[in-house]
Amino acid sequence: MLPQEEQEILTRTGPGTPGGNLMRRYWQPAALSEELPPGGPPLSIRLLGEDLVLFRDEHGRPGLLGIHCAHRGADLSYGRIEDGGLRCLYHGWLYDRAGHCLEQPGEPSNSWTYSGERDSTSSSNISAQDVGGSDEQSSQAGAASTFHERIRHIAYPCEERAGAIFAYLGPGEPPLFPNYEFLTMPDEQVIVTKLWHECNYLQANEGNIDLSHLTFLHYTARNQGIGGGRNNAGGRPDGFSTVTIDGRGAAPAVEIADAELTRHGVRSYKVRRDFGPDQYQLYLTEFVLPNFTAFPGASRGDGGFGINWHVPIDDVNHWKYTFAFHREHAIDQEGWGHNWAVCTAGYRPTKNKANRYLQDRASMKTEVYTGIGFDFVIHDLWATEGQGPIQDRSNEHLGAMDRAVLASRRVLLKAILDLQEGVEPSNVVRDPSRNAFRIIARNGVFPESKSWKVVAGELEAEVRV
Ligand code: FES
Ligand SMILES: [Fe+2]
Repeated sequence: MLPQEEQEILTRTGPGTPGGNLMRRYWQPAALSEELPPGGPPLSIRLLGEDLVLFRDEHGRPGLLGIHCAHRGADLSYGRIEDGGLRCLYHGWLYDRAGHCLEQPGEPSNSWTYSGERDSTSSSNISAQDVGGSDEQSSQAGAASTFHERIRHIAYPCEERAGAIFAYLGPGEPPLFPNYEFLTMPDEQVIVTKLWHECNYLQANEGNIDLSHLTFLHYTARNQGIGGGRNNAGGRPDGFSTVTIDGRGAAPAVEIADAELTRHGVRSYKVRRDFGPDQYQLYLTEFVLPNFTAFPGASRGDGGFGINWHVPIDDVNHWKYTFAFHREHAIDQEGWGHNWAVCTAGYRPTKNKANRYLQDRASMKTEVYTGIGFDFVIHDLWATEGQGPIQDRSNEHLGAMDRAVLASRRVLLKAILDLQEGVEPSNVVRDPSRNAFRIIARNGVFPESKSWKVVAGELEAEVRV
């Protein structure tokens, strides 16, 4: 059970909240590059509870601004891209990517001609300062307006990597862009997509390190659950197993869980021991502060890796960005198309809460544990959305298999509270010599003589940093 006060801290990420302050210390995915093609229209986005507009200037460089014009609040996502920035349609104010107001074409060249009289009989009793001019200016008839120089619109720095546009919404100088392995791959070795989730980001993030669900939620006649080990395939002409799917899931009572704190977050281990006398199967994921997790096998089980990065839209909606990458070869874009198969053009899931995920209860006997098809992305969507807009963790009862979930909350809470005391999180990097991360994930079978901690050490050595 999580005290309500801690739950609030962990799940709220809007401006000014403790959790939001932590999120804002990191570069966060703001959109896919494909959503903002060069020459295309600006994109209205919501990120961490802020309404923003993402656009490319005439050189193709991405910029992220507050969506409401600093003049009178019009929607800048309808604006014109020209003259080095984004121009508001209402009165033509022009902004560059840094939030400078370059032009205010509607302002008179001598800006403000107010005479300085302030008595009530004057035709105007509004001071120049009230409306952005200055009395000093007003005395200089004919001088160019400097009003625009005093406007600094909300603007956040952007970087584009691995098919996504990232933004830094925090205070001060942004940290170095992190050299996570998946963000430094050649273009053809990494691919990214995203899927809308109608729930708080934290419960979906926790799903990535809650590994006991793999052998239940993802249990199908093709596989005894993702990471469940043995493939059931065969026995039927369609390649499915002849087994009946039972209510206990794929691997009752043969698994244990372990968790380990790392420099960046938490490693979650699931060990399964029905693989013969001298070996065990290990499934390992790694949570990295503050909101992504590495997992194995996103590239069709051929040694690739995946990253699920859960980015709050607001407190009750988030995007799951999934990066898949392979160290050795190009990602098979067709083969890896599972996410495209489950979502619409707007990255909304075709199976969703509104249609009860198209659950087919007849299929639950022989094909799919959940009855909602073979796409594990949809299984996870159902599980996390079903916990409610923000899961009430004061009513949960965690068991031995949930230790990684508990550890991740502890790590996240500590990072949030430390930041309140002025301590910068460990993987916010400003020193180039520390811009290297050994983030690992694995699904494999290992001899009993080798502990999973030793395996983790070997996997760390394989990371290209
Ligand atoms: S509201 Fe945008 S220029 Fe006036
Ligand atoms: Fe899952």
